[in-house]
Amino acid sequence: MPNILIVDDEAGIRRSLKGVLEDEGYASAQAESGEACLEALHKNSFDVVLLDIWLPGVDGLETLEKIRAMANPPEVIMISGHGTIETAVRATKLGAYDFLEKPLSLDKTLILVKNAIDARRLREENRDLKQKLLPRTVIVGDSVPMKALRQEIQVMAPTNGRVLIYGESGTGKELVARAIHLQSPRKNEMFVEVNCAAIPEDLIESELFGHRKGSFPGASQDKEGTFQKAHGGSLFLDEVGDMSLKTQSKVLRTLEEQRFIPVGGDQPITVDARIIASTNKDLEEEISKGNFREDLFYRLNVIPFSVPPLREHKEDVPQLTRHFLKEFSAAYGRRPRDISDDAIEVLMRYSWPGNVRELRNVIERIVIMNPTTVRFERKHLPPLVHRDGGRRTGADFSTLHQARAAYERDYILKKLDENHGNVSRTAEVLGLERSHLYRKMKSLGIAVKE
Ligand SMILES: Nc1ncnc2c1ncn2[C@@H]1O[C@H](COP(=O)(O)OP(=O)(O)OP(=O)(O)O)[C@@H](O)[C@H]1O
Ligand SMILES: [Mg+2]
Repeated sequence: MPNILIVDDEAGIRRSLKGVLEDEGYASAQAESGEACLEALHKNSFDVVLLDIWLPGVDGLETLEKIRAMANPPEVIMISGHGTIETAVRATKLGAYDFLEKPLSLDKTLILVKNAIDARRLREENRDLKQKLLPRTVIVGDSVPMKALRQEIQVMAPTNGRVLIYGESGTGKELVARAIHLQSPRKNEMFVEVNCAAIPEDLIESELFGHRKGSFPGASQDKEGTFQKAHGGSLFLDEVGDMSLKTQSKVLRTLEEQRFIPVGGDQPITVDARIIASTNKDLEEEISKGNFREDLFYRLNVIPFSVPPLREHKEDVPQLTRHFLKEFSAAYGRRPRDISDDAIEVLMRYSWPGNVRELRNVIERIVIMNPTTVRFERKHLPPLVHRDGGRRTGADFSTLHQARAAYERDYILKKLDENHGNVSRTAEVLGLERSHLYRKMKSLGIAVKE
């Protein structure tokens, strides 16, 4: 049953509205002041508020602004007396659904209330649908770094701590951000993403903070910014290292004060959004070059997270490959596909400069290009993936350990190949115990074919 809050200082009006609404089958409650209205909204959930403009104490407009700043606010219909029409118009600009004039027409009141309830239902349905459409957020991989990542997410997701995610392009930063949101108490509210690198410099403030109609050429309507959309939920600032210094200082102020003023506006809006930022730049280096504010860095970097490049957890390549094969076979309405161990070997030898995204693209491509193939072989893989194995140089590795591991891996794969995959014979050739070679292959992510 829809629940309506009636806010008016005149008992007579409250009483007659209550009667009319209850006759229509609505539940209702009453408040005689702005303060009482806000208190009621914190205790119970309402679909619509009928709010008198003139109230003693906190007036109707101020109450309206506080309501609009709440997470998932009810629709507000303003009630205006004689001569307050202009104020009522201002109220609709501040986000009121509509306004009613005194003396109240019962018909009009009921129509507006019904429309406001419908509008709110639509808004909620829309929100639910959007949540359902969110991309899947399974983090695939049983390697040590992926397990550690899942564990860290589980520990810090329930806190409100700000997170800064580091990682090369395509490693899964956004996936991690969504996983954090979905494992947090904010999971039913919005996850809003802003790609700071993709939005032109002169539009980013309006994107983040919204703007008032007419505040700059082209601002033909009020616009809600992403900070406000993420109220109660999480705001993902993607590629935060690409924000200009000017925008950085406005973001910093917003984080410090938990409120901001829209472009061209004069009233601050309160926000409560968990900030998850990501970057593929070395922000400390950007600070030393004067491109990034140190104070903002410390605000954002409460919980640092780092997503490793795929070349550092290649043992996940087989699992990721099968995961994407399943995903794309289903997406393109095709029966399940398999891939040969041979082809997997090729995929594991490649260095994946574009990380998991590149692997995902390769799999999508082979699924599309080979509609009738049930089992993919080496020959189905794109040439780039084949070439890379032999082209790698020592300069691609950041540590001696990685370089040595890569060399050992290539060497063992070559010897295995020469011995047709026979582990015992390869161990003999290499002068190793079979069990030793077996362990080494496991640690280097080489699949054992028995
Ligand atoms: N461990 C993983 N398991 C499953 N899918 C993954 C994994 N890591 C990444 N992906 C997938 O790879 C693609 C790229 O990941 P994502 O967009 O999160 O990367 P990113 O680090 O944000 O990249 P960019 O820096 O380019 O924005 C996405 O489709 C994502 O779902
Ligand atoms: Mg991304």
